[in-house]
Amino acid sequence: MLEDTVRDVTRRGRKTQVGGALPGGRQFGLCDVWVRFVADRGKWPMGSATLQITRDSMASVTTTAPLGASPKRSQRVLDLIGNTPLLEITRLDVGCCRLFVKLEGQNPGGSIKDRPALSMITAFEREGRLRTGGTVVEATAGNTGLGLALVAALKGYRLILVIPDKMSREKVLHLKAMGAEVVMTRSDVGKGHPDYYQERAARIAADTPGAVFVNQFANPANPLAHETGTAPELWAQMHHDVDAVICAVGSGGTLTGLSRFFARVSPTTEMVLADPQGSILIDVVEGRTPRAPGNWLVEGIGEDFIPPNADLSRVRRGYSIPDEESFRVGRELLHREGILAGSSSGTLLAAALRYCGEQREPKRVATLLPDSGNKYLSKMFNDYWMADQGFIARPACGDLRDVISRRHDEGAAVTIGPDDTLNTAYARMKLYDVSQLPVLEADRVVGVIDESDLLMAIFADPSRFTDCARSAMSKRVETVPVTAALKDLLPVFDRGHVVIVVEGKQFLGLITRIDLVNYLRRKVG
Ligand SMILES: Cc1ncc(COP(=O)(O)O)c(C=O)c1O
Repeated sequence: MLEDTVRDVTRRGRKTQVGGALPGGRQFGLCDVWVRFVADRGKWPMGSATLQITRDSMASVTTTAPLGASPKRSQRVLDLIGNTPLLEITRLDVGCCRLFVKLEGQNPGGSIKDRPALSMITAFEREGRLRTGGTVVEATAGNTGLGLALVAALKGYRLILVIPDKMSREKVLHLKAMGAEVVMTRSDVGKGHPDYYQERAARIAADTPGAVFVNQFANPANPLAHETGTAPELWAQMHHDVDAVICAVGSGGTLTGLSRFFARVSPTTEMVLADPQGSILIDVVEGRTPRAPGNWLVEGIGEDFIPPNADLSRVRRGYSIPDEESFRVGRELLHREGILAGSSSGTLLAAALRYCGEQREPKRVATLLPDSGNKYLSKMFNDYWMADQGFIARPACGDLRDVISRRHDEGAAVTIGPDDTLNTAYARMKLYDVSQLPVLEADRVVGVIDESDLLMAIFADPSRFTDCARSAMSKRVETVPVTAALKDLLPVFDRGHVVIVVEGKQFLGLITRIDLVNYLRRKVG
């Protein structure tokens, strides 16, 4: 009897009233119960649950009996899409509010986009437009591509992704590793041009028998995935009590799906936009004519047009978040709360914190953390990248130290000792993606070894990899005093060398051409 009740509560996934018998034969009357999933990630694979009886304040009951005829064991990866956990933010300043975050990075493809990917492919199947052996085509290098790659691989479809050629190598490799066929197209052309990635994808789909063009920006199954999945989950996890939901827009699917759901079940729930600075969506929300779009580094959200799937009609308030704030808050989320989330999570959380800070009465606020942060380790979680972008200010020294990106006195320079082997030199160049290494003996530069020195050394005799760096390094080292002017660096670059900065005899660091470019760019802001 208790098991029946538990199954019922689970299916509805929300607070409800039950009455019945406890193990041991004790009877209890009608009371409010909550099912707290015991299984990891709030999933329901184990058939065990904790019942907390809240009204009659009876003791909690734990049952480990299998629940239901077929307990939901996740037999397929696709079953793991959705039902992501919700956490309360407890170590950041949320003012008088309570702030909850839904960890969408825990979907099996690593992002919220698994949901629409599954929903859109399933809709094509239902409509009879996608059959066994069919082809799925989309224009994206982002999380949607990864979600589609996961679903297409597991359902046995061919996937063609059209990607602008500015996308990072990691992303392209990731998609190929997932089995997607990648078609590169030009990134320097806009809407209307035949090589524009959206148009190229539409054409490939039209020209490929049995192919469908996913088109997440206008596909109704995209918002539907959130209206029927993300939103009811969030509603249940928030115990049917949500004052505001902070949401961002990429294709518009999430915001539109959540808006439609909350309009029905809780019309007073405020929908709030988190928008990267430079995106035009904030202008629409604030009733202005959109300004010319700017640039932003946060990935996956913000637009220079209004996607057909983006219904902003229920959004009354929005926050335009600069990249610096998004990255800072994203890093704080990791340091303070232990959650490794992506760059757009920083934007959403920053907007949510601003919203919470403005409230004068307690509110229950929810937001989504759309993907996990491991894709961003070399960017927002990398201090050098952050410093290069000007997001981490280093105290200015007023000399060439300000131009060195990896300072030796901070233990950051990549160097080698004269007695290290050429194998070590090669491994270090590969690991740090540098093409030269200063050779140091007690903090003094005794030489430089670059790719060309290495190649010359091992070309005739590859066994020389075990020789020491001293045997292959160039001893003609051009050093520049730390007090030199920027213009003094140019002749060194002109001769094809990197600049080795010294103070007296002490090595301080290297300056490459791109270090100087980064420095000059930071200066103009
Ligand atoms: C990285 C990332 N991808 C995708 C999305 C979802 O956007 P949409 O549903 O509007 O495509 C978000 C939204 O916050 C996001 O941050």
